[in-house]
Amino acid sequence: RGGLSVHELANQIVVPETEIIKLLFFKGIATNINQTLDVETAKMVAEEFEILVETAEQESEAKKVTEMLSVEDLENLSKRPPVVTIMGHVDHGKTTLLDSIRETKVAQGEAGGITQHIGAYHVDVTHDGNQQQIVFLDTPGHEAFTAMRARGTRVTDIAILVVAADDGVRPQTIEAISHAKAAEVPIVVAINKIDKESAQPDRVKQELMEHGLVPEEWGGETIMVPVSAINGDNLDTLLEMILLVSEVEDLHANPDSLAKGTIIEANLDKARGPVASLLVQNGTLRVGDSVVAGSVFGKVRAMIDDRGDRVKEATPSFAVEVLGLNDVPAAGDEFEVFADEREARSVADSRSDEQRRSRLQQAMASRRVTLSSLS
Ligand code: GTP
Ligand code: MG
Repeated sequence: RGGLSVHELANQIVVPETEIIKLLFFKGIATNINQTLDVETAKMVAEEFEILVETAEQESEAKKVTEMLSVEDLENLSKRPPVVTIMGHVDHGKTTLLDSIRETKVAQGEAGGITQHIGAYHVDVTHDGNQQQIVFLDTPGHEAFTAMRARGTRVTDIAILVVAADDGVRPQTIEAISHAKAAEVPIVVAINKIDKESAQPDRVKQELMEHGLVPEEWGGETIMVPVSAINGDNLDTLLEMILLVSEVEDLHANPDSLAKGTIIEANLDKARGPVASLLVQNGTLRVGDSVVAGSVFGKVRAMIDDRGDRVKEATPSFAVEVLGLNDVPAAGDEFEVFADEREARSVADSRSDEQRRSRLQQAMASRRVTLSSLS
């Protein structure tokens, strides 16, 4: 028997053709709409979608970057660096770890340190003999995840869970685990403060097991790296492990399309006007682009990277500070570049109208509640 085409299969199982092509793509099978699939492959696709439907409720929690991609994007994918968030209980060393990674990497890099706070920074790591990058979000992990939940976009590819070896699993550790699990973001554990006399890394592993994270060396799937954020011990291993996980995650995007992504920070600068840090998640953002960020229109006037250097373009997974927006968008909003400036303006206009309307409706609804509760 000759099987059936992607188009026919799509009709049979009532799933968009593009979704089938995507699924096959991520299974390493390149197809197009007219290509014939053998019966076995068609069956596999049908089963996968059945499973997907069953887990749809969990899936809907966070939209993955791959879901931003069009079929055209899928034909032009390149590897992109992982975007990482650091999470963990109060005082377990998140800030120290971030600073320490930044310092060692800046010291190794060329002259001129990181001067610009843009809400994210890029680190170069040598892995398997190649220089690769990792992007760290500055946003405290739980905030990043809360914003992700609220807006439904996934900004983080990997979560580093910091657990102090002298304190063990604490309430915010557990909360961080459940955030990451809900968003299906893989966790790499940094067991921190191993320089301390009172450090008990094995106890930490045991406690983490009670919360579903089983260390690799005990037959599980979670990479756990003992580190000292304060003296820099084992940070290189931690970074390598992040790249390892990122390889497994197979992170890709299409640099050859119009940029799309998420606002990570935004504020009004007295001298420079509205300033926003954007994380590019697909496509390439360029100076001169017409962008809609949330409901704000802008024409990118300048872009500044985490070293304070002006850049002309930002490829997938890169974060840049952008000047030229007409207003201040909200952190967590999505942004999108349009080929046509007029179209961008009208999209921004209709979105801000929509926002105004929904604010008005909310205000009226709360008024009604107040009135009815009075009577
Ligand atoms: P919050 O932002 O308040 O949640 O804390 P945090 O997780 O960012 O922790 P922070 O980096 O501020 O570290 C808390 C304390 O632990 C500080 O006094 C650090 O100096 C100390 N500390 C962090 N890492 C290490 C480490 O590896 N070893 C030792 N001995 N102390 C550390
Ligand atoms: Mg901190």
